[in-house]
Amino acid sequence: MNLNTISPNPDFTVSVLDQRLLPHVEQYEILRTVEDCIEAIADMWVRGAPLIGVTAAFGMAYAAREAQENEHPEGYFQSLASHLASSRPTAVNLQWAIDRQLALAAQKEMSFEALWDEAVTMLEEDAAACRRIAEHGLPLLQAIFSQTKKTVNVLTHCNAGALATVAWGTATAPVYLAHAQGIPVHVWVDETRPRNQGAHLTAWELAKAGVPHTVISDNAGGHLMQQGKVDIVITGADRVAANGDAANKIGTYLKALAAKDNDIPFYIAYPESTLDASIADGLRDIPIEERSTEEVTHIQGWDEEAAALRTVRLTPSASAAANPAFDVTPARLITGYITDSELLRP
Ligand code: MRU
Repeated sequence: MNLNTISPNPDFTVSVLDQRLLPHVEQYEILRTVEDCIEAIADMWVRGAPLIGVTAAFGMAYAAREAQENEHPEGYFQSLASHLASSRPTAVNLQWAIDRQLALAAQKEMSFEALWDEAVTMLEEDAAACRRIAEHGLPLLQAIFSQTKKTVNVLTHCNAGALATVAWGTATAPVYLAHAQGIPVHVWVDETRPRNQGAHLTAWELAKAGVPHTVISDNAGGHLMQQGKVDIVITGADRVAANGDAANKIGTYLKALAAKDNDIPFYIAYPESTLDASIADGLRDIPIEERSTEEVTHIQGWDEEAAALRTVRLTPSASAAANPAFDVTPARLITGYITDSELLRP
């Protein structure tokens, strides 16, 4: 399942699918500079931890090229790397990609070509890692199907799909593989306020792949679990700490609580680049991004009459709003981790 979220071009530009416009408009943007990459990450033209990492890897190649033209190449390169690292704080894949490129730059005298080739390698590695996540998660869905002989109902939150990676996705990867192998699957898609990555992105890509799915309000998951309509919850992660605590889109924690209360397995799917072994206690130390309150006070949708995207206000202009964009699910609520190397229990 490849949606061409990011592709390098022969002229050393990078095409990215502009996810701000989905599902209504399919438009690509061209990145040419490190500043373009920073804007694409901060404004969420690209989003999802693995895709942020790969975009940053190309950003570092541009940073190396731009630094060569500066009076103080080394210092300027480091300052561009720091600027890039600050574009989004929660997904550790961003810092992981930057650190990998910084190490290579130190060996290869900040060669643009070397860093560009490395970014292409990281892109290919991400698709391969997600494919392995698919293989490691597939037995979970197969086991449910063998036991129930009915459609396997998966609930997911946010978009940890092909759009959040180079291909396949993380949480969706086992679903795509199960679907391809003829296992009947159905996905409950949390809309994921405030930016609605579920309603806009996960629904769009599942529809494209022909996977049966239903979009639900974020508050419906607990009720569906009580009704026996959810067999398994699978989400992605933006950072997994050494103690197994996992940061993911705001609202994931509530789904984990509801799953625990209903004895429903709750899995986190992630590639190695999302593991942050330097953080011992995720709940205490994973940084949580605070995004603009406008994402809460306003909502974007498609005006069918005008055939255009519109943003409208939802809240009284006198009301304050807050927008923590991620939460941390403690390891005790996580049944297991579907990684690119294995299926892990806490
Ligand atoms: O703010 P976003 O859209 O970048 O948040 C994305 C998520 O929370 C995903 O679930 C996570 O990055 C995993 S992506 C494979």
